Amino acid sequence: MVVAAGSGSRFGGPKHDLTIGGVPLWQRCCDVFRAVGIETVVVVGDVPGGIAGGERRRDSVLAGVEAVPDAEWVLIHDAARPMVTVDLVDRLLAAAIPNDVDGAIPGLKVTDTVKRVQRDRVVETVDRSDLVAVQTPQIFRRSVLLEAHRSAPGLDATDDAGLVELIGGTVAVAAGDPSNIKITYPDDLARAKAIDEERSEEP
Ligand code: C5P
Repeated sequence: MVVAAGSGSRFGGPKHDLTIGGVPLWQRCCDVFRAVGIETVVVVGDVPGGIAGGERRRDSVLAGVEAVPDAEWVLIHDAARPMVTVDLVDRLLAAAIPNDVDGAIPGLKVTDTVKRVQRDRVVETVDRSDLVAVQTPQIFRRSVLLEAHRSAPGLDATDDAGLVELIGGTVAVAAGDPSNIKITYPDDLARAKAIDEERSEEP
């Protein structure tokens, strides 16, 4: 499923009408999932053919999960990451489906030094050796994801793996893709367009 609802408050407005190469962000994501051969592709959000989203991201995800009652595995992707690739989805499927895990997520090793800050003052330098920055798509067994959502209805989780972790689910990490950037602020759209142009120039 591609989640494309929400107000885009940090971007300065909803992102569902934005395009790259003339194609809406959510549509680009759907095209990749269809190219991978995923059976059913659902879009959550105010887009043609989309189903209604919820107030929080996790509510939109739940609406999408409920729309595919027969699925064994569900793959959840932010429409705000339109540079997702077939290779990344393939890596994720390989990390989850043949293995004894409840899900898999893409992670990138953190290369910046990370500090904990309170009121503009550094309080701690965090050991980054076992930290990864996490992207979407994220894949889970549908039954486990539903149980995770039901277990902590009040938590405003920023990703689905966070909820699955809370119920003790096992989540594998596959190599993320640095070009799978998230469009959060207006400058990010220009970066995504540049990545798209670079890719179209590749032989
Ligand atoms: O707000 P954030 O940048 O974390 O949103 C990530 C993704 O979740 C975006 O693709 C956005 O469209 C989606 N979302 C949603 N429903 C919400 C909030 C966000 O589908 N209520």
